[in-house]
Amino acid sequence: MTEPSPKAPSAGRPDAAATPSLADAVAALASHVEMLIEEGVRETELDRETLRELSRPPRRPTVSAPPASRPIASTPAGTPAPKPTEADLEAARRRLQEIAAEIAECRKCPLHRTRTQTVPGQGFPRPEILFVGEGPGQDEDRQGLAFVGRAGALLTRMITAMGLSREEVFIANVVKCRATENYAMVKDRAPTLDEMQACLPYLRAQIAVLRPQVIVTLGNAALEGLTGLKGITRLRGQWREYDGVPLLPTYHPAFLLRGGGDDTARYWDVWDDLCAVLRRIGREPPPRKRPAAG
Ligand code: URA
Ligand code: SF4
Repeated sequence: MTEPSPKAPSAGRPDAAATPSLADAVAALASHVEMLIEEGVRETELDRETLRELSRPPRRPTVSAPPASRPIASTPAGTPAPKPTEADLEAARRRLQEIAAEIAECRKCPLHRTRTQTVPGQGFPRPEILFVGEGPGQDEDRQGLAFVGRAGALLTRMITAMGLSREEVFIANVVKCRATENYAMVKDRAPTLDEMQACLPYLRAQIAVLRPQVIVTLGNAALEGLTGLKGITRLRGQWREYDGVPLLPTYHPAFLLRGGGDDTARYWDVWDDLCAVLRRIGREPPPRKRPAAG
């Protein structure tokens, strides 16, 4: 990694204010062990630090916004980017693999303790669009691929409705390991700012290689993790810039699913955002249509 990495969070430091009850700690340990048994794990290390992580509720510390984000006044119509050469693509592919290999070894935040595997993200090595979600869920943690669960299926249908395919874009997350309540691998949760900050150098390194024309952040965590800004409802559809790349925040597909799927006002808000993205990369948006079922 050539990127400077922010200081790793102080894993294992006792946090008096957040000390859970003994019952919570025992419940977290029990569900962690149950999960390990279900996964076929017969032997594991349970050191003091892991026990402390399991029993500590996730913290949401306040950090200042990274300096890289600033608003852009309007949506300039873009022109299609020149096609990368085969040599460019090969070099980008190799570099992305190197970054993925570094991620696979990473222990910079507590999420490494409970992951099944890392999820670096996947797709075209020099895409027009980079989609950034929050972090792997259970399906992604099992398969090592981003957005392969239910929310991923809706994202796929939205990409198809745009006239593109998943293979033409890149799909990644702000954190590369699954975040669960109390690190107990039972209920997913949003990553903390500490976790997102620890992981951000990987996404930034990926962005430097991918050189997308547009970044689309999906949901609150991706917006906050990348730009430090909160409030997806207020900020969706407003262009910003990240490391010199135009960035458009929109809702997360899981939020759309919770709110009724692909025939809701929110879905059409996302569709409008995706049309703005298409115009920004010099493509004519297709007529307003519901994404194909499936
Ligand atoms: N939700 C995300 O934010 N990312 C994934 O990869 C899957 C679900
Ligand atoms: Fe490393 Fe990111 Fe995984 Fe944390 S979430 S252990 S920083 S790869």
